[in-house]
Formats: sequence, structure tokens, C-alpha cells
Amino acid sequence: MGKYRIAVLPGDGIGKEVAKGAVEVLKAIGTRFDHHFEFVYGLIGGEAIDREGTPLPDETLQMCNESDAVLLGAVGGPKWDHNPPHLRPERGLLKIRKEMNLFANLRPVKFYDSLADSSPLKAEVVKDADLLIVRELTGGLYFGKPSERRIESGEEVVVDTLYYKREEMKRIIKTAFELAQKRNRKVTSVDKANVLESSRMWREIAEEVAKEFPDVELEHMLVDNAAMQLIRNPKQFDVLVTENMFGDILSDEASVLTGSLGMLPSASLSISGPSLYEPIHGSAPDIAGQNKANPLAMILSSAMMLRLSFGLHQEADAIEKAVQQVLAAGYRTADVAKNGKHVVSTTQMVEEIKARI
Ligand code: NAI
Ligand code: MG
Repeated sequence: MGKYRIAVLPGDGIGKEVAKGAVEVLKAIGTRFDHHFEFVYGLIGGEAIDREGTPLPDETLQMCNESDAVLLGAVGGPKWDHNPPHLRPERGLLKIRKEMNLFANLRPVKFYDSLADSSPLKAEVVKDADLLIVRELTGGLYFGKPSERRIESGEEVVVDTLYYKREEMKRIIKTAFELAQKRNRKVTSVDKANVLESSRMWREIAEEVAKEFPDVELEHMLVDNAAMQLIRNPKQFDVLVTENMFGDILSDEASVLTGSLGMLPSASLSISGPSLYEPIHGSAPDIAGQNKANPLAMILSSAMMLRLSFGLHQEADAIEKAVQQVLAAGYRTADVAKNGKHVVSTTQMVEEIKARI
């Protein structure tokens, strides 16, 4: 019997609804496979600002660091949109990534046969697409300094800085190769090496790392072309690896392949401490509190946690299989339902998954 301590940070909006669903599914897994999951809860985002005056209270961070893994719902909402920068919910997200050294964000994009008609793309284009975006998460433009406006010779100028250490690039690219070894042995390294010096170094490091993985094929692709190829012919990809901002943009684009943001899970791996798992969607204020949210991205994120943090492969498979079965049986939350047919609520969807575990 395994014992695991899981920090749950539901956050705001539908984050709360989907996190609750994922915890219920994990409890069902615990019962079936005889594991003891202990859940501890913390504040992050807007609710943390309201109650503690900060988007990431120290107690939350400490609790996460003392757990075996972290499950995060989503943060944000219109209530906090006009707050000053240090009191914005998203600040809590950037801070937890940096503080927990969550350097590698893994976003698997998998096509489900039974959702073929939910994607705006043609079924023959998306059918069988199965790729993994590996996004660097703690460097690049989102963290580089200076990031400021200033006056130069009487003129207003602005600067953001794309800053990486060689070691930071190397470790994310290496992670992508290791993951590719367990998949279809191809890495597409995405950069803008025709323009950016940072990308030229990225490419150089990718070549170096590739020598350690003779069984994995490496290709380079410029980011603008990658954006186009991703929806033109997604089946050509296995693992894509890229820096922070390119990865942010490409992974939202890739969600279109599956039909809904509500289907895409992610893992953010730490250098040494516990890792964090979260759906890629936000707090969806437009549907929050209505029991309408698709809980599958969050439930699939908890499957990634079982596999990657705890090595519980059978248990992760059981969740992923239940998701496939429920979709194949025709159950749909509103975001992926066609013409309002077979629509179920968040809680009904969770019950259907549990019933199959
Ligand atoms: P969003 O991802 O919350 O929603 C975009 C659209 O997709 C909405 O129409 C929403 O209803 C729908 N949607 C998203 N997830 C869904 C699900 N599980 N089931 C059904 N429908 C779903 O992005 P948006 O609207 O741009 O941002 C809303 C708030 O969330 C903002 O405050 C934003 O800053 C925050 N946000 C937080 C993120 C996080 O916590 N990781 C990521 C992205 C946005
Ligand atoms: Mg994004």
C-alpha cells in the first residue's frame, strides 16, 4: 500500500469544481488499488488575495514543498482584473513556478476518436494526432530583467529581456529527449534561429544533446513554420521542445486539435522537489459555479501525477481508460457536445468516470 501526500490548490472559478472532481476520482483509485492519498488544501490566486492579501501565501508554498505532488485548478477572474500587478492572481502562478523550480511544462495533446467532430479542424487532419509539447517554464521573456519602460533622450522606450543560462536550455532539451525515448523517438526543436541569438544557442545545445541520444531523431523548425504545421499536419510531430513564450502560444494553438481547452492536462516538473499538475485552461468565469465545466483536463492531469510523480502506471492507465470509455459511451460536457446532445454536468461526468474505476 502506497502513501502519498497531495497538495490541492483549487484556486478560483471552475478551478474549484474540477479540482473537487479530480480528488474524488483519486479517492476511487485509492480504494481500487489500495493506496492512501492524503489531501491537504491551500489558497492561491484571487481567493488568496481576498483572504490573505497575497496571490501566493507562504503557508501555501511551504505546504506544497512538503507534499509529494501538487494539483492546481485555475486562478483568476474579472473581480481582480483591475488590481495592481503584485495583487493579480496570475502572479501567484508565476511565483509558484519559480519558487518550486518547475522548469519543464509537459502538455500532451491527444486526439480522441469519439471527439472527432468537436474539433474545428477536419477529422482526417487531427485523427491519430498524438504529440507532446515540452515548454521551458522558468526562464526566457517572462522572467528576464530588465522588463521596464524608460525614457531615453526624451523618448519613451520599453524593453523585455529574453535571458537563459546554457544549463537551463540544456536541461529542458534533455528532458524532451528522455521523453521522446519513451514515445516515438522524434524531437522537433522549435526556435527562431534565423533572427534571435538565444535561438542560435538553443539550436547548438539541441545538437549537442542529440549526440547523447542516438536513437532519437532531431529536427529543427522555425516557430512561425511550427505554428502553421501544427494545424496543417499535426501527425508529423512526436515531441516538440521550445522556450517559454513560444511554448505558451503553441500549446494553446494545439488544444484546438482535441476540440476543447477542457480536455488538455499538463505536468510541470521540478528540478528536484515535488512537481505540479494542472489543466491548461483558466478559471472560465463565464461558466463558473454552474456545474458545466469539463473536468477531464483536471482528471487527466491527476493521471499524469500518478504516472510521473508516483510511478503508478496501472492506476494512471485506469483513469485514462475510464476517460476514453466515458467519451465513447457518448457522455459530453457542454464544451464538447454537438447540438446539446448527451450533455452531462461536471458532477455527472465525474460520477461516470468513478463508475468505470
Ligand atoms: P479560460 O481558459 O478560463 O476560458 C476560455 C474559454 O474556454 C471560456 O469560454 C471557457 O468557458 C472555456 N473553458 C475553459 N476551460 C473549460 C472547461 N474545463 N470546460 C468547459 N469550458 C472551458 O481562459 P480566459 O477566459 O482567457 O481566462 C479566464 C481567467 O482565467 C482569467 O482571469 C485568466 O487570467 C485566467 N487564466 C488562468 C490560467 C491558469 O490558472 N492556469 C490559465 C489561463 C487563464
Ligand atoms: Mg497560456
